Amino acid sequence: MNKDKTFYVTTPIYYVNDKPHIGHAYTTVAADVISRYKRMCGYDVFFLTGTDEHGQKMEQSAQKQGLKPIELADKNNERFRALWKELNISNDDFIRTTQKRHKDAVLEIIKKMKANGDIYLGEYEGWYCTPCEAYWTETQLLEGNLCPDCGRETAKLKESSYFFKMSKYQDAILDHINKNPDFIRPESRRNEIISFIKEGLRDLSISRINFSWGIPMEENEKHVIYVWVDALTNYLSALGYFNNEENKKYWPADFHIVGKDILRFHTVYWPAMLLSAGISLPKSVFAHGWWTVDGQKMSKSMGNAIDPFWLVEMFGRDAFRYFLMREVPFGLDGDFSFKALIHRINGDLANDLGNLVSRTIGMVNKYFEGVVPKYLEKDSIDENVYNAIAKSAKEADEQLNKLAYNKALLSIWESISVMNRYIDEAKPWALAKDENKKARLSSVLYTVLDGIRAISYLVYPFMPETALEIRKQIGADNNFNVESEKDLSKMGLLKSGVKLGQASSVFPRLDEKEMLEKIYGTKEEKKEEAKVEDNLIDFAAFEKVEIKAGKILEVENVKKSEKLLKLLVDVGDGGRTIVSGIAKSYAPEDLKGKTIAVVTNLKPAKLIGIESRGMILAASNGEKHFVLELPESIPAGTKIK
Ligand code: MSP
Repeated sequence: MNKDKTFYVTTPIYYVNDKPHIGHAYTTVAADVISRYKRMCGYDVFFLTGTDEHGQKMEQSAQKQGLKPIELADKNNERFRALWKELNISNDDFIRTTQKRHKDAVLEIIKKMKANGDIYLGEYEGWYCTPCEAYWTETQLLEGNLCPDCGRETAKLKESSYFFKMSKYQDAILDHINKNPDFIRPESRRNEIISFIKEGLRDLSISRINFSWGIPMEENEKHVIYVWVDALTNYLSALGYFNNEENKKYWPADFHIVGKDILRFHTVYWPAMLLSAGISLPKSVFAHGWWTVDGQKMSKSMGNAIDPFWLVEMFGRDAFRYFLMREVPFGLDGDFSFKALIHRINGDLANDLGNLVSRTIGMVNKYFEGVVPKYLEKDSIDENVYNAIAKSAKEADEQLNKLAYNKALLSIWESISVMNRYIDEAKPWALAKDENKKARLSSVLYTVLDGIRAISYLVYPFMPETALEIRKQIGADNNFNVESEKDLSKMGLLKSGVKLGQASSVFPRLDEKEMLEKIYGTKEEKKEEAKVEDNLIDFAAFEKVEIKAGKILEVENVKKSEKLLKLLVDVGDGGRTIVSGIAKSYAPEDLKGKTIAVVTNLKPAKLIGIESRGMILAASNGEKHFVLELPESIPAGTKIK
């Protein structure tokens, strides 16, 4: 590794209010591919991913699930980490915005922005939806000033907020974009952002006082820092930018890889913050497109968000990684379909790559007893292989440096086709029939094995496991490091005389019909499982319900009601009134003196003018109630868990 050649790449930090899906896997795999490629070529790489854990949405999602925000964050954080492990992601760090190192960095950048005179206290005015506890801008509202989330009426409200003088940086950002054509990629997105900025930048409200799950402003703890100011700073906090001189060398980032939906935050808000804090801007922000599934937007309510864990289980991690990178040009939207995935696996992976490896190994086993033969006799057609590999390596490098993953793969597969054609042309099976052509046979098979070795480098960033497996099978070492990109096309490096490894098919062909049946079968099962899971509550939610043993001290019928009984029940507090709808099943004297189970922490409710402070647990068959009785020996107030 060359310490002077640093390369810093980031993914967005993912919201942990939900589970990861293929959209998240996409960005992270893309960042992993370029990281692995650069590392292989001798760069000192820092690859960062992580989770975005603050904000009102997070607070609300946690509340819905009966969890504290940090508990929900911990739970989903684990899911993201587990997925990255499953997908062989080689990140160097994983930042969580709830970590101290991050919070410190956020306060530090704000301090710097403030020192530059860019932060002031003002009033934020917006349309507030009380049930959603969210502010909306005029343009976000539905007709009639209705909340775009729940459809209810909103009200115009003002609240105190700190502001960042973003407007001050409008010209500087435009200038930077104009002078640095690579700053926003792809090109079409660049134009979109330029027009947005030209419409005029306003100052940015960077604090909220209507919720508390976030980083408090240092000078006024009632104000929680706006989640995007918090989140964007992760790219510096993970480096320890403000206190770790060593890792500062990675800044500015070479690539922030983001989805098209969050490009504006990264190319307007983030540069403005950095300019204000006197920190240099990232070299490039690349916006990729969005995946749909069978032509439709992925969403929880549609039930079509594809579980990446399951995909890996069904198809294997490398096939999934390959598909994501090959199917759609990075930057454009794409559609996920199982058919397309199966076609890629059967075509590119099983037929082209897999077949090249297995037919070559088969022949080396047959004609050379499984030992790498020597290159003994030249022929001009060997140049076809050398040239193809040189071209693939050069093009893959150019394309990968532009994050044009699918073009890089196309070019790599060109070499695979050339090698398959080379075999067809050289006809080793015919050479084997003639004792005089043994030297040529040996050279042909050496050339292909050596070509496969060279190709395994280029395949490695996309499919690390497969590349390693191929190396093992062809008897090559497992070292995927070169000094520089130029070494990737060096030929003749495979050692002759080495025994090949155990042959096995790298990508067996899938039976499309059988596979699709299996998928749609398991998908239905999964849906059922998900339904059950949606019904499940967390232990923490259950624990909130307080159930205690109660002794019934007195019971009387409630006048004007056939259904209700008024009870005085001692739940360890000497006695409280509970109104219960069990009068049709019990006469007052049936119940007096019994020990029963009572929910004691329900909010008090008035029933026919009587305040009831608890609920008696009973089974019901629709006609009759059966109160849950406990043994008499259990003291009043005993907790039931
Ligand atoms: N937390 C913010 C990012 C803060 S970065 C400082 C966020 N998180 S997210 O979890 O909602 O989205 C993370 C990334 O996933 C985004 O880049 C988004 O574009 C991407 N995707 C979410 N759904 C997607 C698809 N259906 N397809 C492709 N990518 C998508 O935004």
